[in-house]
Amino acid sequence: MMGLKLAMWNALLLVVLSLWACSVEASVSYDSKAIVVNGQRRILISGSIHYPRSAPEMWPDLIQKAKEGGLDVVQTYVFWNGHEPSQGNYYFEGNYDLVKFVKLVHQAGLFVNLRIGPYVCAEWNFGGFPVWLKYIPGIRFRTDNEPFKYHMEKFTRKIVNMMKAERLYATQGGPIILSQIENEYGPMEYELGAPGKAYSNWAAHMAVGLGTGVPWIMCKQDDAPDPIINACNGFYCDYFSPNKAYKPKMWTEAWTGWYTEFGGAVPYRPAEDLAFAVARFIQNGGAFINYYMYHGGTNFGRTAGGPFIATSYDYDAPLDEYGLLRQPKWGHLKDLHRAIKLCEPALVSADPTITPLGNYAQAHVFKSKSGACAAFLSNYNPKSFTKVSFGNMHYNLPPWSISILPDCKNTVYNTARVGAQSATMKMTRVPIHGGFSWQAYNEETTSYSDTSFTVVGLLEQINTTRDASDYLWYMTDIKIDSSEEFLRSGNYPVLTVLSAGHALHVFVNGQLAGTSYGSLEFPKLTFSKGVNLRAGINTITLLSIAVGLPNVGPHFETWNAGVLGPVTLNGLNEGRRDLSWQKWSYKVGLKGEALSLHSLTGSSSVDWIQGSLVARKQPLTWFKTSFDAPKGYAPLALDMGSMGKGQIWINGQSLGRYWPSYKASGSCGGCDYAGTYHEKKCLSNCGEASQRWYHVPHSWLKPTGNLLVVFEEWGGDPNGIFLDRRDVDTVCADIYEWQPTLMNWHMQASGKVNKPLRPKAHLSCGAGQKITKIKFASFGTPEGACGSFHEGACHAHNSYDAFERLCIGQNACSVTVAPEMFGGDPCPSVMKKLSVEAVCS
Ligand code: GAL
Repeated sequence: MMGLKLAMWNALLLVVLSLWACSVEASVSYDSKAIVVNGQRRILISGSIHYPRSAPEMWPDLIQKAKEGGLDVVQTYVFWNGHEPSQGNYYFEGNYDLVKFVKLVHQAGLFVNLRIGPYVCAEWNFGGFPVWLKYIPGIRFRTDNEPFKYHMEKFTRKIVNMMKAERLYATQGGPIILSQIENEYGPMEYELGAPGKAYSNWAAHMAVGLGTGVPWIMCKQDDAPDPIINACNGFYCDYFSPNKAYKPKMWTEAWTGWYTEFGGAVPYRPAEDLAFAVARFIQNGGAFINYYMYHGGTNFGRTAGGPFIATSYDYDAPLDEYGLLRQPKWGHLKDLHRAIKLCEPALVSADPTITPLGNYAQAHVFKSKSGACAAFLSNYNPKSFTKVSFGNMHYNLPPWSISILPDCKNTVYNTARVGAQSATMKMTRVPIHGGFSWQAYNEETTSYSDTSFTVVGLLEQINTTRDASDYLWYMTDIKIDSSEEFLRSGNYPVLTVLSAGHALHVFVNGQLAGTSYGSLEFPKLTFSKGVNLRAGINTITLLSIAVGLPNVGPHFETWNAGVLGPVTLNGLNEGRRDLSWQKWSYKVGLKGEALSLHSLTGSSSVDWIQGSLVARKQPLTWFKTSFDAPKGYAPLALDMGSMGKGQIWINGQSLGRYWPSYKASGSCGGCDYAGTYHEKKCLSNCGEASQRWYHVPHSWLKPTGNLLVVFEEWGGDPNGIFLDRRDVDTVCADIYEWQPTLMNWHMQASGKVNKPLRPKAHLSCGAGQKITKIKFASFGTPEGACGSFHEGACHAHNSYDAFERLCIGQNACSVTVAPEMFGGDPCPSVMKKLSVEAVCS
């Protein structure tokens, strides 16, 4: 009894203590070496997770995985247009519940870097600016303009006050240790000259004046005024130094991959190169590094910018779009972070001494007065190994890599030696009882009766829709005289439509005449085609479709979309007829949008076509079905491979735009981790859909009767839509004998062993899965990569045995990479490695 009471008291004490620990007020400052939290210099590892890019139910898991991955800080932008969708009407619920997000990060024991912007870029619609801002009289964005500054300050102040009211700044006991104002304004300032300079100064002083008690940063802003810290963004930032010697060296965006655009190939960045870039930054005195993105997530609804930014914002981040670990990236970075943390005492106390170790090799050594010593041995040669001597030891450095020695002696980590497992993922069809059974509703091409207004000439799209919808109808009549020659010859006149973007459907007398679209690089488009006209009055109807508003560049307020003309008809008796300056009728949005067909109530407001009458490949069609939620916890996605272009809703919420018919252009050759990375270097999906799967968050589903609505613009086959689950397919390890590991280093450092230790191969499947088969195992000189391993000249014949014995039937297992595990050394005096691939089911 007493024991129980004591245990209860202890538990209570723990709760009280942890609550107290959570809300301890902390001072945050900085010096030349680092951000200083409570008087202590810290090497901080941070990662971007944008709260609106996932469902709130995913947040705790994402944050936990970030913490396990070795992060100290979560960085997010604040998304103004999500929070103030119309002027003065604020929204902080659902996936825009910023306070909840910040509090969850706090509860996990991590810090927050709040990048308020409020311009964010981020491949986000209009860079985060609300479209209503464009209609404030006299406004000019991101320059020394009073109306702009007024609204920017108002929103920034609102966010800061909200954080203060919730006691979320570190000085109040909260997690926010840093804040950002503006975003990459430097290049803009350069372009704008004096007004740009005045604006950035104003923004800096405005921010500092808000009295958050924690430092402010500006990224890509070389002249950031004191006390603001200027920070670097890029694939590499080791060359960067802050504008004052007393500021720490910070990297706000270490790009973990790159974004996908509809029509573009899918970029990825090898973990070895990302780790190399980070180690390079740290060895040059870097003190804060943020992965952009750590979890990229999804551009739900119409939040994708660009234009043409895909709905997936996966970014090849350490956590994939669905929140699953991307391996080996997540694990390799986790190991890197542990190695860096072992060096922290030396890193924060000394500047590095740099010693050349050969043509391409260097040693960066940090020695503190108290005796701590950490060394980074680097080989910049992208082609070959280099052997170096350092201290009185020899080290062999793989190409394009850095070895980390937290005691200046023993390597615990090399950026090109991946100890973490890699994994391949698979999408598996989820059985839906009876399959999806679709009903259809045809959106009519607009007619004069439902147009909203008529004017002379062509109107710009964003000014007309104010982005309330992607769609704007343009309609006009042309009179064809019966004496027209083409009526006899059959040589139809050519209709030419010039549009500022982004996609266009052309209808002649209600029939689809054709479709054109642009791309991120060239949003403008020209439609030009012979059209079938008849004698008398013909109606030309254009459906202009926006695919996200631009998020980057100067003079935001001046960007255009839609049919700006000219619109001409060539090949008439008179030659060319210009239609641009005749009367045009307009309608914003679709009939189905006005009826809210995507919602539960709206979807029952029309009669849907049922069963076999549902026509396939019919443009402008709404489809609906209902389904029960599948069992299990694996992430879900809709396979839209059979469809063209449109939007998807589940239970009234928009999953985003889909466009699988836009095939990825680009060249997807092999990709060597070594050598300078850029966003076009490593690509996948060439010739396939840029995005075929669309994430369905579990929390959006009810157990039964979920309403799925699809609006198809081009014409697709809904019978090819499937619900898939995302699982780990196979896991691999690829480990050199004698490859250094942190675990072994710890054993040696603690004096438990005094000889070099063998590394271990760790394999682990997803939650609820088991290893069912060893697909490949070879200890020797195997070749290839996870998914394509094959035996090399040297192979231990018992390579499979240990794995068959220790792994089959297990969720996870470890096998020591030593010859005796595989029946002896198959080729003494050759450097060997182990490659293994196991199937998870
Ligand atoms: C940066 C920008 C980010 C994001 C990134 C590309 O320049 O600051 O917001 O747009 O590029 O993903």
